[in-house]
Amino acid sequence: MKKVVLAYSGGLDTSCIIPWLKDRGYETIAFIADLGQGDDFKEIEKRAVKSGASKVYCLNLQKELIEDYAFKALKAGAVYENKYYLACALSRPLIAKHQVDIAKKEKAKGLVHGCTGKGNDQVRFETTYRLMAPKMEIIAPVRIWEFKTRDEEIDYLKTQSIKINVTKKSPYSIDTNIYGRAIECGILEDPWQEPPEDIYAMTSNPLKAPNKPTYVEIGFEKGIPIKIDGKAYKPVALIKKLNELAGKNGVGRVDMVENRLVGIKSREIYENPAGTVLNAARLELEALVLDRDTMYFKEQLSQKYAQLTYNGLWFTPLREQMDAYFDKVCKYMTGTVRLKLYKGSAQAVGRQSKYSRYQEQLATYGEGDQFDQSLAEGFNTLWAMPFQK
Ligand code: ARG
Repeated sequence: MKKVVLAYSGGLDTSCIIPWLKDRGYETIAFIADLGQGDDFKEIEKRAVKSGASKVYCLNLQKELIEDYAFKALKAGAVYENKYYLACALSRPLIAKHQVDIAKKEKAKGLVHGCTGKGNDQVRFETTYRLMAPKMEIIAPVRIWEFKTRDEEIDYLKTQSIKINVTKKSPYSIDTNIYGRAIECGILEDPWQEPPEDIYAMTSNPLKAPNKPTYVEIGFEKGIPIKIDGKAYKPVALIKKLNELAGKNGVGRVDMVENRLVGIKSREIYENPAGTVLNAARLELEALVLDRDTMYFKEQLSQKYAQLTYNGLWFTPLREQMDAYFDKVCKYMTGTVRLKLYKGSAQAVGRQSKYSRYQEQLATYGEGDQFDQSLAEGFNTLWAMPFQK
């Protein structure tokens, strides 16, 4: 039998894929990525075996997701279509990379994912597969198999005498990791409908959030957040702490219609408490330490970085080149931003840095003004000159 490695979530689709592949002469190794989605991984491992996997790998990739993916995107200021912090998009190349590593170690011949043909994730997985293991066969069963409904998949498992508890299907399709949560389908497919409250899991309803604001100080070093309220945190712990603080204040909800890579628009709801706070703080620190030209120029690259990430082009030369650029930009991104979290908003209310370019003696309208106003007349004269006739 040909050996393949499957990116296994434990859901009905990927559980069906295992016997479906066996019918076609494949032996499946299931790979489960723990990205902080909070599942019962022991249970999911058992489910993979019950479905017929010959071997199961479960790796905790949370640290790598935050350090090598999310923090790079943060330094780059990558926010897709100005709203989406890319939690799901960042996780796919990471999962695919480890899947390829396992496949090579196991001398497997193929890579399998459970994505549909309409989404971005298939592209993110397959582009990474193709770049890292160009010779391996790629199988996307959900795009080609005969099942049209969940019930047909459940019936199929019965015919294979596979007994796994299928949890009651929620009307939504949800993707979760420690950096954020994405929710689509069901009533959300009508872009006019306000999202019902029960779809949210990482953030409380801003209306029911505490009546007193939470102040939080985030310390950055070279663009990387390292402290909360003066206390040092490791990356994963920092994200968890911010998820908690922002989540309880209802911070981090996004409702958007986005342009998918495959050409359709989709309506997606995101919860990204930590990412929202971190990006608000980053923007504020940038405003303090970066010169004007750098700020305006980098903005264009931020957008490009977000598009590359969204479009599955993480492991490409341009993304790596841009990391070198953003490392340079972030050389002076050391300092602290104080934010006020209150009923859904994360507002910066203070900022400081040893690299601050803000000069109070030039800005002040009070005592100690050192701005030489006698220069202004000449400046104004020359500024308008090119346009005068
Ligand atoms: N639209 C987001 C992206 O392409 C999330 C995709 C997964 N969403 C979901 N609800 N299952 O990155």
